[in-house]
Amino acid sequence: MTTFPITRLAGRRTPFYYYDIALLEQTLDTIAAETHDRPDFIVHYAVKANANPALLRIIMQHGLGADCVSGEEVKAALGAGIDAGKIVFAGVGKTDEEINLGLDCGISCFNVESLEELAVIDELSGRKGTKANVAIRFNPDIKASTIAQISTGRRENKFGISTDMIDEVAAAIKGCRNITFKGTHMHIGSQITEMGDFVRLAQSMNATVSTLEAKGLTVETINVGGGLGIDYHNPDGAAVADFKAYFAVFKDNLRTRPGQTVHFELGRSIVAQCGSLISRVTYVKQGCGKRFVILDAGMNDLVRPAMYKAHHEIQNLTPHGGAELFDVVGPVCESSDVFGGDVTMSTTRRGDLVAIRSAGAYGETMASRYNLRPLAPSYTDKDA
Ligand code: LLP
Repeated sequence: MTTFPITRLAGRRTPFYYYDIALLEQTLDTIAAETHDRPDFIVHYAVKANANPALLRIIMQHGLGADCVSGEEVKAALGAGIDAGKIVFAGVGKTDEEINLGLDCGISCFNVESLEELAVIDELSGRKGTKANVAIRFNPDIKASTIAQISTGRRENKFGISTDMIDEVAAAIKGCRNITFKGTHMHIGSQITEMGDFVRLAQSMNATVSTLEAKGLTVETINVGGGLGIDYHNPDGAAVADFKAYFAVFKDNLRTRPGQTVHFELGRSIVAQCGSLISRVTYVKQGCGKRFVILDAGMNDLVRPAMYKAHHEIQNLTPHGGAELFDVVGPVCESSDVFGGDVTMSTTRRGDLVAIRSAGAYGETMASRYNLRPLAPSYTDKDA
């Protein structure tokens, strides 16, 4: 459970992100405990969820690898001390520059999303006289129980190569001179709490691996992506995601043989609950039939509610007692700049500190300078 050191926080300019490193460490310890019996399970952290150097360093110290989707993410992971041999690189649009960077750094694997990309990697690694490690990202056409914007494993999504094209994939791999085929990759979406979705992913992966091996390819690595969801309604009661149930799905349903490793790319479930966006109330305004709490944080600082109608708990950290209903909004000149409609909060006044909870994932990394607002800084519970 995150406790907020109000007197210490109150002296800081708002808005800012506040990270509970103790909770991050507890989360990472839980992952270690749940994978302890499976030395073949290798967890990579999906840097896109939060690339804050303070968090990356802790994650590196706990031995995780990194899942990157841009050259800058590869650099951030390396900068935090994550070994290049533990970095995987996905993304449908890797540029030549990014592929060359990955080759020069010696990353462990490119998760290749098209036959067109495979040909480019083969050519670029050939020019360097090296061999690129690649895994093929397949699109298993699984509808995950999550919102459409963050579902990635359906036929109509741009990600991966259809499992229907497996013959062409096998032939293309055999035709490449400058790649080393490592294995398979799938990622079906994000904020998934229905374990049945991951069971279907494991089953699809079993079938895909069998088909590739029947075609004479050796599958060393099986990457099942990320996607484990968290409870946005209960940031303190469910501070650590259900890693036990999640890893049990793969222990029970994924077929592996000696020598194979299973890779995970978890983002949200590692960092979401440890982060809050701390803001100050600028005005409490009476509107037409509604009362608005106007914060000094806006959709540019945390875009998830505006972009996905995502729920985040909003908590007044300055206690006055009472309970009132407010629409909590930011100062940005858009009607979508709303953090929550009809939110019950304690009596709220100008100058109060407010925490928007579960903001550690896809908060800071999706921030922008819209309205030329500055990027919010960040602090942790370890800062003086
Ligand atoms: N691996 C791949 C290939 C991915 O595309 C993603 C996330 C992950 C791993 C990590 O997924 P996670 O464990 O965090 O669910 N901005 C959205 C989420 C987009 C997720 C994109 N891909 C949000 O704020 O909900």
